[in-house]
Amino acid sequence: MPLAQFLTALDTIEADATSALLSIQEAAQLEAARVRFLGAKNGVMKDVQKQLGAIPVADKPAAGKRLNEVKQSLQDAFDAARDAMASSVTKKSGPLPDPTLPGTPLRLGHLHPVTQTIEHLKEIMGRMGFTTAEGPEVEDPWHNFVALNIPEDHPARDPLDNFYLATASASGGVESAYLMRSQTSTVQIRVMETTKPPLRIISLGRVYRPDAPDATHFPMFHQMEGLYVDSHVTMANLKTVLRVFATNYLGGDVEIRFRPSFFPFTEPSVEVDFFWNGNWIEFGGAGMVDPAVLTAVGYDAEQVSGFAFGLGVERLCMRRHGITDIRDLFSGDVRFLQQF
Ligand code: PHE
Repeated sequence: MPLAQFLTALDTIEADATSALLSIQEAAQLEAARVRFLGAKNGVMKDVQKQLGAIPVADKPAAGKRLNEVKQSLQDAFDAARDAMASSVTKKSGPLPDPTLPGTPLRLGHLHPVTQTIEHLKEIMGRMGFTTAEGPEVEDPWHNFVALNIPEDHPARDPLDNFYLATASASGGVESAYLMRSQTSTVQIRVMETTKPPLRIISLGRVYRPDAPDATHFPMFHQMEGLYVDSHVTMANLKTVLRVFATNYLGGDVEIRFRPSFFPFTEPSVEVDFFWNGNWIEFGGAGMVDPAVLTAVGYDAEQVSGFAFGLGVERLCMRRHGITDIRDLFSGDVRFLQQF
């Protein structure tokens, strides 16, 4: 038998088997077809194989190779058809779903721990009569520096300590007037510019500083700014408000300590420590609003006085919840966030 005829016979078998498989619906039909094509005794493939002996010796390797290929492809096609049938059978005859079973529980999200903290702080301060004010995160130098008594040459304005925004100047160069606010004290100015005393506000929001992230630093964090301006505000008021706040937020009777410090916009200025879990921990800065600031916003510094404070929101949140690495708060890892 010539090789060409042998190969044509194989092609025909392959085509027949493919069309037979397409029309098969049931397992019994499939098995019958498998036996017809691949059966060890009288299968069609077996018959062709018998003719291999009649092929000229030189053509035998090519004929044998093609024979094996077709055999394998038929075997694969039958296996695949059987698997497909098996899975559709279990699907069709599987148990009916029980509509009375409880559903798959939905995963509910919740507020981020920092947002929860902000809500909590607002609530505590609200009970002491402080209302919430807001200001923009992109600030001009007037609100972030000048009105806060931070002059042009002050080190706090250093480009290395601030995120200035590059803006093209008229001359084609790059000017950096606006910046991401480095403190929420900007909101003190914005509120005083538009509100007559007396006033009692807090402002909670993001601030930005180019710090390398580590366990206690992050280039973005939140502050709670407080501002109280009235005719007879004193340092004693400041201390009482902060102590009542800490006692409410951290729990127990929290001791408070002031350490002398310096901020351009308060005089005198202090660092605020709370005694918590056996340690004095610094939570922020505070002081009496500097008369220069009151004057800058058009207040009469002879008639009114005020106190201001700025506390770190993450620090408060972390101490209360025993969080040791600020980066965990902003990694977005649900396994961490779920705990709060
Ligand atoms: N703005 C200061 C800071 O970010 C904190 C502060 C606020 C100090 C208000 C005094 C009064 O460090």
